[in-house]
Amino acid sequence: MTTLFWIAAAYLLGSISFAIVLSKAFGMADPRSYGSNNPGATNMLRSGRKTVALLTLLGDALKGFLPVMLAKQFTDLPVAALCAIALAAFLGHLYPIFFGFKGGKGVATFLGAILGLFPAVGGITMLAWLVVALLTRYSSASSLTASVVTLIVLTYNWGAGMWMVWMLIMVGLLFWRHRGNISQLADGTESKLFSKKTP
Ligand code: G3P
Repeated sequence: MTTLFWIAAAYLLGSISFAIVLSKAFGMADPRSYGSNNPGATNMLRSGRKTVALLTLLGDALKGFLPVMLAKQFTDLPVAALCAIALAAFLGHLYPIFFGFKGGKGVATFLGAILGLFPAVGGITMLAWLVVALLTRYSSASSLTASVVTLIVLTYNWGAGMWMVWMLIMVGLLFWRHRGNISQLADGTESKLFSKKTP
């Protein structure tokens, strides 16, 4: 019962698309109408409004972080249940009930959830993202690498267990949502961070 409550709350929170809400609030174009058409922080950068892109990143990360961190703090749910709550927030971002179930790719929400689950590993996730971003300037490649690194580090720390099922679903969906980016990376048409060129 407790787990279901947290899962429902996490899903609803995850369903708030900060890219769309903030774009409306700041009188900007809908992020689904330009660039990669993705309601996420990377695409918000393409609008030229760096502060709003940063706020999107923070908001989308917070909706992964909050439910996991609060459940961890106020319940004695096992790590597998916390990962299921993280997945619920992530699914909210990908399939938001408030936006016709058409959401983003989940990177910031994934990061926020990992920070809530295991802050040190979240630090490694950010570091992995940053290293690949500095080397390649591809946000998508950085996100995909960071998600795999996260999975490896969590496995090293926690060993095999039910938590893996929820995490594998998350990372699997993250790759699925980036399938367009992956083909663009393969054929060299993926747009780089801070580049005005749209994919
Ligand atoms: O967080 C999403 C990022 O990895 C790719 O975004 O807009 O380039 O498809 P975008």
